[in-house]
Amino acid sequence: MEGTMEAQAQQHMDKRLVICNWKAYLGIAESVRTAEAIAESFSDSEKGCLLAIAPTNLALCRVGEIISKAGISLCAQDIDIGGKGAKTGSTPIEVLEEAGCEFAIIGHSERRHRKAPETKESDALINRKLDICLNSQIIPILCTGETEEERYRGATNNAIKKQLVGGLEGISAEAKEGIEKLIVAYEPVWAISSNRISRIPDVTEVNEACKMIRRHLYSLFVKEKADRIRIIYGGSVEPANVSAYLSVNGIRGVLVGKAGTDAAKMEAMLKAVGSGPVAQLLPS
Ligand code: PGA
Repeated sequence: MEGTMEAQAQQHMDKRLVICNWKAYLGIAESVRTAEAIAESFSDSEKGCLLAIAPTNLALCRVGEIISKAGISLCAQDIDIGGKGAKTGSTPIEVLEEAGCEFAIIGHSERRHRKAPETKESDALINRKLDICLNSQIIPILCTGETEEERYRGATNNAIKKQLVGGLEGISAEAKEGIEKLIVAYEPVWAISSNRISRIPDVTEVNEACKMIRRHLYSLFVKEKADRIRIIYGGSVEPANVSAYLSVNGIRGVLVGKAGTDAAKMEAMLKAVGSGPVAQLLPS
């Protein structure tokens, strides 16, 4: 039994990841319709990739029912700290687990860089959320990436380091023990929701960032565990560029925003993911 579970976990690790973050683009009925269309076109040929969808919280259960039948996983866009109890407006991890979430996006730049300063998510808060996920059944996807200003100042490495160290240093021993399930997304803030080719990184930049992330992970965790942490890319991923990003050594998947809400684009994207070359796990 244990052997089978381990084999399943390994299979999971070997797959390319396509995580769709629907943000607040779709209402409940639209989420259901889009989930149905994506589930219908998610054919056996694409099962080499692990597809997950993160709808609005209010649609999690209905979308989950539809996509689970097609072998697609459910993802939360965020979690709240603290468990069940007297916490008005909160969505604790236990409820997300009950809804069937296998993944949760943590520290997305749209939460880190909110306009009102008092609502911005800090590395300290992200650290607590990661600890909670790492002690649960849910796989956290930690978003990292520099702003445009940091990029022009040559501060990309520092920005990524701050987010990784601030998000992961000092997590509990239990969370550290299971750290290999963590996924780190490299999402340059300047490339998110961009439709200009000059505003998305080329494969060399993504490879460099991937190496930086891996170096910082080595400074935080033992190499054997750090090597298993998967890195994915996000920022204006489209059917036309997904293969290029997936060909970068060290990149194991993509985090897709806007394009993931369009079933036709997703069909094209998954075809490209299914047929593209397989990159190495570690950057070179
Ligand atoms: P985008 O969003 O694909 O619309 O750029 C990506 C993200 O924010 O995760």
